[in-house]
Amino acid sequence: MKTILVTGGVGYIGSHTVVALQENGYKVVILDNLCNSKAITLSNIQKISSQAPIFYQGDIRDRPMLRDIFKNHPIDGVIHFAGLKAVGESQSEPLKYYDNNVVGSITLLEEMIKAKVDTFVFSSSATVYGEPGATQYQEGMPTTPINVYGRTKLMVEEILRDGAKANPGLRVACLRYFNPVGAHLSGLIGENPVGTPNNLMPYIGQIALGILPKLKVFGSDYPTPDGTGLRDYIHVHDLAQGHLLALQYLEDHPGALTVNLGTGKPYSVLEMISAFEKVSGKSIPYDLVERRSGDLAEYYANSDLAKTVLGWEAKHGIERMCEDTWRFYRQLDSAQS
Ligand code: NAD
Ligand code: UFG
Repeated sequence: MKTILVTGGVGYIGSHTVVALQENGYKVVILDNLCNSKAITLSNIQKISSQAPIFYQGDIRDRPMLRDIFKNHPIDGVIHFAGLKAVGESQSEPLKYYDNNVVGSITLLEEMIKAKVDTFVFSSSATVYGEPGATQYQEGMPTTPINVYGRTKLMVEEILRDGAKANPGLRVACLRYFNPVGAHLSGLIGENPVGTPNNLMPYIGQIALGILPKLKVFGSDYPTPDGTGLRDYIHVHDLAQGHLLALQYLEDHPGALTVNLGTGKPYSVLEMISAFEKVSGKSIPYDLVERRSGDLAEYYANSDLAKTVLGWEAKHGIERMCEDTWRFYRQLDSAQS
């Protein structure tokens, strides 16, 4: 049985990946400081997969803790989700982001290499592309991120690719996620951010529950069919499967792989609202307001490489993304009332 260290494993994408790993015969050790997640997720992971992951509450920048983890467990690989991800905050507190995301990743990588572990899967983002001059992003395109968060992701990617060049035994995969949405079919785990959500789907979910009154649709004058922003929403379950396939791929392929994980099919904000209304039976009131600074009109993935090298393809469509999000929010509501 292989053992995987999952940093940020209590968070949104991490928790779904931990479930997928445990369901596929891996043993999981989680390191998470709970700065953007709650410990209750650990018991929900256990309920879903009938197994408790080993949990360390701590920071990826804490070398002694990392040394303990690598010493005490036969780690075969690391999946590194731990990171800060609020674009606006990254602009106002850049040093916090460089420290957490870049220094944190370097510290983790150094301790991993010292412990003679060679496999590292990194949560990167479509944000690394910035504005490459096309709307369908392919891995070989220029990367010119337009915010601090995106730059931290690109820096870590480059550190990993340079690391793999210098250490021929190293195996790294940088997975560029598009817009992760949805939740586990059980309704037990999903995206429940601390504070008011920045992202579209959790915001819509909280409106449906009556927690928030109205959505602000940021921009209705984009050069898109209905004037609102187009994004490539991808179900978190499909994303989790991508991590399993990346781990398997790295077993036979030392070096560095950089790959998009998206569906290739973009939807507008108004299409997402209407799909969610249809599955939930709830009305989502909204106002069309000014564009949000830093938003692009449209981008989506070319996922040919993921299909060719990993045999990965997204399976879940927009309806399933909305159904699962809604189930998670209803469950959250009944758990809290
Ligand atoms: P999340 O905030 O739900 O999960 C991140 C987890 O990491 C949290 O549980 C948090 O407590 C933990 N964490 C943060 N800093 C830490 C540190 N220094 N030490 C230990 N734990 C720490 O976010 P998510 O949506 O699950 O995202 C996971 C990863 O995927 C992040 O790196 C994010 O940047 C990346 N990503 C997310 C999206 C998205 O839209 N959700 C898109 C592209 C990439
Ligand atoms: N939107 C609204 N109102 C809201 C929130 C969002 O209209 O209250 C719109 C945005 O303008 C955008 C779309 O909904 O057109 C999606 O916005 P999100 O905030 O959900 O997601 P982003 O595309 O801005 O970015 C997300 C993550 C990033 C990640 C990126 C990868 O926040 O961390 O996807 O593509 F890097």
